[in-house]
Amino acid sequence: MTTLAIIGGTGLTQLSDLTLIKRDKLDTPYGAPSADFITGELKHQQVVFLARHGNPHTIAPHKINYRANIWGLKQLGVERIIAVAAVGGITSAMAPRHIAIPDQIIDYTYSRKHTFFEDENYPVTHIDFTYPYSPSLRAQLIAAAADAHISVSPTGTYGCTQGPRLESTAEIKRMEQDGCDVVGMTGMPEAALAKELGMEYAAISVVANWAAGKTEGEITMAEIEQHLHVGMANVAAILKSFIAR
Ligand code: HPA
Repeated sequence: MTTLAIIGGTGLTQLSDLTLIKRDKLDTPYGAPSADFITGELKHQQVVFLARHGNPHTIAPHKINYRANIWGLKQLGVERIIAVAAVGGITSAMAPRHIAIPDQIIDYTYSRKHTFFEDENYPVTHIDFTYPYSPSLRAQLIAAAADAHISVSPTGTYGCTQGPRLESTAEIKRMEQDGCDVVGMTGMPEAALAKELGMEYAAISVVANWAAGKTEGEITMAEIEQHLHVGMANVAAILKSFIAR
C-alpha cells in the first residue's frame, strides 16, 4: 500500500482518531508549508495529514504555499493524496451538505505560483492534464462512500476561483455556462502540482452553500459553517471507510 496523505480544508483542520506517530516541520526549496505534517495511524494504516490553511486556520486560499505543501508531501514519500475542500454548489444536485468526487477542473485563478517547472533548473515540461484527478483513487473514494452509505456525486467539474471573496452572480452564471458544478478556491494549483510530481490526487468536495445568485439574498458565514459541520462528519466517515478497505 502506497503512502496516503489527506489535505484538510476549511472545517477539517485535524483528523480525529488519528494516533500520532510523528510530526514533521519541513522546509522546502519553495518555502514553508501551511503547517506541520502529522503522520499517524488510522485502522492500522499510516496516513499523513496536512491542514491546508494552517492550524489554526489562518492562511487564505490565495496565500497558501501550494508548492511547499505538495513538495513536503513528496519528501515524506506520499504517493496518493485525498484533498478535502469546501465548495459552493452551482448545479441542481449540488445542494448544501452534498458531497461530490469531481472528475474535471477549470482554473480561474491568477498570480499563484502554479508550477515546479518554471526556471532554468528544469527543461520545459508540459504535463498531461486530461484527467486532473486520478481515476483509480476516485473509484476507491466512490466505493468507500457507498460502503459508508453516504450518497455522493461520482463526477463533477470543479471551478477554482482566486478568492478570498466569494463570486458575483454573473461570475457563477458564467461558470455554469462553462460547465462547472461546484466552485472552490483551493483546487488549483494543488491538483496540477501533485500531477507534476507524479502523485495520485483526488478530491472530496463538500458543499457548504449555494453559490452566489442560486438563492435569494447573500451568503453568510454562519450558513457555511453550519452546513460544513454536517458535511465534514460525512467526509470523516468516507475517509474511515476508505482507509479500512
Ligand atoms: N465560492 C468559492 N469557494 C467556496 C464557496 C463559494 O461559494 N463556498 C465554499 N467555498
